[in-house]
Amino acid sequence: MPARHLLTTDDLTLDAIHSIIERASQFLTPTGLGETSLDTLASKRFVLAFFEPSTRTRLSFESAVQRTGASCVHFTEAGSSVEKGESLQETIRTIESMGFDGIIMRHAENGTHAQIASHTSMSVINAGEGTQSHPTQALLDASTIHERFGSIGGRRVVIVGDLLHSRVARSTASLLSRLGAEVAWCAPSSLAPVDASTMTRRIDSVESAMKWADVVFVLRIQRERIISDVVPDVDEYRRLYSVTKELACSFPDVCIMHPGPVNVGVELDEAVLDMPQCLVHRQVTHGVAIRMSVLEHYCRSTTP
Ligand code: CP
Repeated sequence: MPARHLLTTDDLTLDAIHSIIERASQFLTPTGLGETSLDTLASKRFVLAFFEPSTRTRLSFESAVQRTGASCVHFTEAGSSVEKGESLQETIRTIESMGFDGIIMRHAENGTHAQIASHTSMSVINAGEGTQSHPTQALLDASTIHERFGSIGGRRVVIVGDLLHSRVARSTASLLSRLGAEVAWCAPSSLAPVDASTMTRRIDSVESAMKWADVVFVLRIQRERIISDVVPDVDEYRRLYSVTKELACSFPDVCIMHPGPVNVGVELDEAVLDMPQCLVHRQVTHGVAIRMSVLEHYCRSTTP
């Protein structure tokens, strides 16, 4: 019986990770998603509780719920009794009392998911936690790389940009490293990762990264940081850390990934998004497939 909660990818054994990626591949076609209309999660009920904005994760979980025969409702903080002062703990107990099987939650505060998991009978599925973890993003990134290259072991991946604040960087670097990839990082010192233990080297510019890597994985940089002390010179940042059209054209075999949303013209040129080596939109498609597979792994009600 698998663990009930997905808090970090460390909750998953290597066998479970391979199994989730393999199952997700069954939902994908070369250009999109298959006509999935399953009943593997029939009668399961989920709450989507996003305390931070999201497009990809929220919609792909909702789509995954529908495609596996389950149902879901949305909890939104605005208009809820949280606005009347109800605590998060009591909100979760209230949701649990309505008979839901799982809560798919994004929250800005590190540790919130684990705290809730220790007090609820529902499965807690982490859809993004503060600066700490985003396990289904890591799984979809691994799934996308696996599809493109046929394997992950031995692949060279450079994570570029704001590693300091990025939950994606933490989760994806950790998972890819466990799966045998060599992961490097490339960022100004002001955005260096707090913990680089899953990464083997630092690379000083995105151009050097393109020379070394199979995959350059670019992170979102928040616009408000660009005009702060952290990144005071946008032109200098672009020169060293942005994947321009010219750079992408010079290295057509290097895949470009980004978790989204992209700050077009900052991390990537708009033209890069349409290049064959750019996997950004394929990552989004994998997001639906991986979340179907994750929900089945944690909450399956029938044999597939
Ligand atoms: N990658 C990601 O988590 O995107 P959203 O914030 O749109 O969900």
